Amino acid sequence: MTAAMIEPPAFTKGEGKTLLVEGLSVGFGGLLALDQVSMTALQGEIVGVIGPNGAGKTTLFNIICGFVRADSGQVSYGGSSLLEHHHPHDLTKLGIARTLQGVGLFAGLTVLENVMSGAQAGLRCDIGSAFLGLWRSSREEHRVAMRARILLDDFGISAYARYLPAALPYAIQKRAALARALIAEPSLLLLDEPASGLSNVEMDDLAAMIRGLSPRMGVLLVEHHMDLVMSVCDRLIVLNFGQVIADGTPDSIRSNPEVATAYLGNEVHESSGHLQGFDDA
Ligand SMILES: Nc1ncnc2c1ncn2[C@@H]1O[C@H](COP(=O)(O)OP(=O)(O)O)[C@@H](O)[C@H]1O
Ligand SMILES: [Mg+2]
Repeated sequence: MTAAMIEPPAFTKGEGKTLLVEGLSVGFGGLLALDQVSMTALQGEIVGVIGPNGAGKTTLFNIICGFVRADSGQVSYGGSSLLEHHHPHDLTKLGIARTLQGVGLFAGLTVLENVMSGAQAGLRCDIGSAFLGLWRSSREEHRVAMRARILLDDFGISAYARYLPAALPYAIQKRAALARALIAEPSLLLLDEPASGLSNVEMDDLAAMIRGLSPRMGVLLVEHHMDLVMSVCDRLIVLNFGQVIADGTPDSIRSNPEVATAYLGNEVHESSGHLQGFDDA
């Protein structure tokens, strides 16, 4: 897969919408997992959220997705509050798609059907063979299948359209999961640890693919692989103990002493591609 293979989806819903996080706080017991976090992601901007293990990255992602409820603060997209939208279907309607850590494809559906399922918001896992009955009409089913095939082609996985996910290499499954998110025609794509489990070569492919999504949509990337976030992101937000300690270009983050201090030993190990202290799970 190369950047040149990624065709622009001609069906992005949002125009110039901004993800706005303002003064977000959430505590678990006595622990303040997020403390007055504010950040933005503009359409066309690839924003990375980084920070040491336990900094609050996943919590931030989960609040934006509606999996975790905030104690205070606001999250909105294009002026609509996300904190009042707790169903995946609501996110899709607002133009937001996400992939979760791991793969999360439906085991009983083929790759093609999985990608098609992304056009049906809020599907449950028990659809199995009932899948073909989901569409309002055979015309709609045909239209979605066409779009799914284009995405499979863009992602270089057309050859696997008829396979069940479990039969395929992990990297192919991850491409399918991304295609499934994109068929929902998002203007904002939320990615949680998309590089987990990928080889270096596969990660390079992923980087090219993510870059290919800009400027048509905003991307919020929660990721601990430094090579990937440094090469892909326009802007990085650094969390530490639930607080934003830096917000800027990869170059400014790289040379930010407070960021270096946040990672163990005050040392930035760029040769390993990781900042020391990163969550390598
Ligand atoms: N559901 C939860 N219950 C209790 N503590 C949690 C929960 N989720 C996260 N935490 C705590 O909140 C902090 C931030 O966690 P997390 O957002 O997962 O960090 P990161 O993704 O940056 O590693 C950590 O101290 C973690 O132990
Ligand atoms: Mg995490």
